[in-house]
Amino acid sequence: MKPSRFPALQASAVAAARAAGELMRRHLRRTKKVNEACHHDIKLDLDVRCQRVITRSLAADFPGIPVLGEEGIDDRVRTAPARWVVDPIDGTVNYAHGSPHAAVSIALQLREGTGYRTVVGVVHDPFMDETWTAITGRAALLNGRRIHVSKRRKLDESIVSLGFAKSTESLDHMLPVFNELVYRVRKIRLMGSAALALTYVADGRFDGYVEAGIRLWDIAAGGLIVECAGGVFESGETGEEFRHTLMCNNRLIDRELRSATRAGLARNPR
Ligand code: IPD
Repeated sequence: MKPSRFPALQASAVAAARAAGELMRRHLRRTKKVNEACHHDIKLDLDVRCQRVITRSLAADFPGIPVLGEEGIDDRVRTAPARWVVDPIDGTVNYAHGSPHAAVSIALQLREGTGYRTVVGVVHDPFMDETWTAITGRAALLNGRRIHVSKRRKLDESIVSLGFAKSTESLDHMLPVFNELVYRVRKIRLMGSAALALTYVADGRFDGYVEAGIRLWDIAAGGLIVECAGGVFESGETGEEFRHTLMCNNRLIDRELRSATRAGLARNPR
């Protein structure tokens, strides 16, 4: 696929994210149908409905590009030359409880060698009306304006966000990270939306984000946005398909943050 098509693909992703975001906004204060709940996670009927809205919207513009989504995976996503990676509601637990801290995340990935590379990323927060966008090789934007990661150099002046995924094993990995970091940073933030944590690093509100055992659809779009804003985004394979460990920061605190989080992230969470 030619890079000249990326802006049109990005425009399509923005339109799809806005359509789903509108549905999220309308239902924020309403009682929501829960499709599935476990100790540390909730799945809503609205997750499914939002993914359907996104899939239809993308397919209307670009038929034939399969969707790898939190709420359903097209069989072709492991072989297709291009694929959409979609989290219809990132921050579902926040949203389910009525907290307006959740976002739509859409990335376009192209096949490269044995893997896939993100070339377009869109994260849309319908509650703040903020839309972060990136195209590989270009500057990252927030509502059309260029953004950059923070210039903070010291870990002890930094805000670092952590994510706790739903499995007990991932909690076991993150607690040592929390215990170490809490004494070393200005503040730790546990906000409950990986996509927004990444975009907050991209635009300098946060200085780093770390999580073990996170899914590809939570981080594909935000990761590109961080890179295009000058930051570090590194996702390590865990051995389970579409599940990663994640290190993200403003580049200036990279060394200090890695050394402070090594204990928890060294092993492979599921
Ligand atoms: C979750 C959020 C959360 C992160 C979890 C994710 P979801 O995504 O991004 O911040 O810590 O690992 O699963 O389930 O709300 O789309």
